[in-house]
Amino acid sequence: MKTVLTTSPSQAAKFIKNGGIVAFPTETVYGLGANVFDEQAIRKIFTAKERPSDNPLIAHVASLDQIKSLVSSINQTSQKLIDAFFPGPLTLVLPKASAVPTIATAGLETVGVRMPRNKLAQEFLEECGVPLVAPSANLSGKPSPTNWEAVFEDLDGRIDCILQGETTEIGLESTVVDCIGDSPIILRKGAVTFEDIERVAPGVKIYQSNPNENPRSPGLKHRHYSPKARVVLFSSEIFQESNASISAFIGVSKFDGDFALTKICDSVTEYALSLFDFFRICDRNGIQTIYCEKVSKIGIGAALIDRIERAASDE
Ligand code: TXA
Ligand code: MG
Repeated sequence: MKTVLTTSPSQAAKFIKNGGIVAFPTETVYGLGANVFDEQAIRKIFTAKERPSDNPLIAHVASLDQIKSLVSSINQTSQKLIDAFFPGPLTLVLPKASAVPTIATAGLETVGVRMPRNKLAQEFLEECGVPLVAPSANLSGKPSPTNWEAVFEDLDGRIDCILQGETTEIGLESTVVDCIGDSPIILRKGAVTFEDIERVAPGVKIYQSNPNENPRSPGLKHRHYSPKARVVLFSSEIFQESNASISAFIGVSKFDGDFALTKICDSVTEYALSLFDFFRICDRNGIQTIYCEKVSKIGIGAALIDRIERAASDE
């Protein structure tokens, strides 16, 4: 398959209207979109990404009106979260409408809904005229793409089109919140923090996995965000000298070590934005070990540490 590169949202939308799959930028990471009501197109997403079929997709909308076509009800707390954070980097898991095919939700009776605030994403969604299911536009198991070149690296020849936008604003995937029960549960951390949500929904909890139970967010059980290299989360006190020629460092401190690749970020925000791209750069350069500096779990720091811990774990 030839993958068309374009900066035109209307050209990209034509592929969706013809049952194709298109990568597009959002403020979090690039997504790989298909018409939410087109089962055959959705199947192409799972094939292109080599994604396990038990991992549900997030539906992206251009307007609040479109949410109604995807869900069977919206409780009071969900409405408050929508009012406070849409459009933005937040996904709400809600009871699904029957029109949403079960292949999109991996058989679940719920659907994740998100309204991106990225301008190009909004234009593209409007041109498509239907909500789009869109996982991150990477091969399954690889770090999420924060620029179109990373999408190209993983999916050239496997998808119809890449809508070329800027590097994403945040660089980590959206916060996912289960809104099915009485109090919301954060399934995945992101740029909308626990504290942000707690202000609107005081009963909010953070999901704790239970080994005797199926995970609430099926995606959490799959290996994620990982480069080929070994990832080590460290604080400088416990740092031990590495084999410099095949090691890399990313963090916010001017670290006194000799590494093949070094990325010193000006802020934790820049660290979050740079992490996945740095993982890819390290893999391209044959790096064996990536040392990631520990930072405090304040603001985006909580989601950043979550992603590094997942990349560092062997599960
Ligand atoms: O920022 C993002 O969320 C990006 C952009 C493209 O919007 N998308 C993204 O999609 O990260 P994906 O498929 O890579 O991750 C979706 C996560 C998975 O962990 C999945 O298990 C969870 O959301 N999820 C989706 N629908 C769900 C549902 N109905 N119930 C529970 N978890 C769900
Ligand atoms: Mg993903």
